[in-house]
Amino acid sequence: MVKKIFSGVQPSGNLHLGNYLGAIKNFVELNNEEKNRCIFCVVDLHAITVSQDPKQLKNNIRETVATFIASGIDPKKSIIFNQSKVSAHSEAAWILSCTARLGWLNRMTQFKEKAGKDKEKASIGLYSYPVLMAADILLYDSTHVPVGNDQKQHLELCRDIAQKFNNDFKVDDFFKIPEPLIKKEFSRIMSLKDGLKKMSKSEISDLSRINLTDDKDTIANKIKKAKTDALPLPSTIEELEKRPEAKNLIGIYSSLSGLTLENSLNEFSGKNFSNFKENLSQLLIEKIIPISLRIKELLNDHNYLDSILTDGYKKADKIASEKVKKIHEIIGF
Ligand code: AMP
Ligand code: TRP
Repeated sequence: MVKKIFSGVQPSGNLHLGNYLGAIKNFVELNNEEKNRCIFCVVDLHAITVSQDPKQLKNNIRETVATFIASGIDPKKSIIFNQSKVSAHSEAAWILSCTARLGWLNRMTQFKEKAGKDKEKASIGLYSYPVLMAADILLYDSTHVPVGNDQKQHLELCRDIAQKFNNDFKVDDFFKIPEPLIKKEFSRIMSLKDGLKKMSKSEISDLSRINLTDDKDTIANKIKKAKTDALPLPSTIEELEKRPEAKNLIGIYSSLSGLTLENSLNEFSGKNFSNFKENLSQLLIEKIIPISLRIKELLNDHNYLDSILTDGYKKADKIASEKVKKIHEIIGF
């Protein structure tokens, strides 16, 4: 079976190690499998659910494309485009918002987190954001969606919307029901300052995350300052589970080195953090610096980055507009 892969990343700047290990690294692996059809979308319509500076947004769209390429996605083997150019996304989002139920959206935890205490002041877009995400996925008959753990609930909503639409209009199998692809162990990289909080672009302290554009010294400094606890590293996974900071750092080591969590832990059990941190720093520098340098290089070549988006737009628009045509027929427009 051909796997139809679709995923999206917001162009909101500061792409970090969590984005890389939770999502982009998996995109690269899926893109390397011969049979898959991969579509990677820079979701700029999602980005404007919170306020953006227009100039910065334009830069961030290019930076997101540069990050995809620098991480190893081959633009010849995948479709890379930005969401706003393919108008089918906005249109399908409206139509699907008439299928989605208020009660379903009210359960979304990301909205509650992002809107914070003053929900009345959040944009309607921030609230209906998961419906747009469902449109993204369903327009391309996607079968598999690689994402980090934080997107699991949105994917379940997408499946519910697809099922309800198929049932309501008695069009069995019209929208394909997508499977999430979430790597169990590395789907939630935590902040370097707090092992119980997700590593995030929006966290104020830059020390909380490794950005994919950080240089060597910055990476080394951030790992040096990363929060730990007072004990040496444990020898069993059960003990590791009880120590969030240690678990996160060993998890990062494991994901980057390709070793299992257990083998990574064996390498350092009984040792103190300073020894482990030196090794982790080196590994991060080895894996992230080539990406960081390549991103900077690519950002000097706007023509190349824009040509990837234009090329991707043409291919994506063809698929999506055909699906929208069929949606119109089904609805009776
Ligand atoms: P975003 O930057 O919010 O558009 O997220 C892009 C992708 O990165 C999504 O698949 C997220 O689930 C994933 N992601 C974001 N933060 C993390 C994190 N701290 N750990 C793992 N995956 C993450
Ligand atoms: N909502 C996702 C995030 O914030 C990004 C996204 C938008 C997405 N559309 C998507 C991810 C479709 C997967 C599939 O990370």
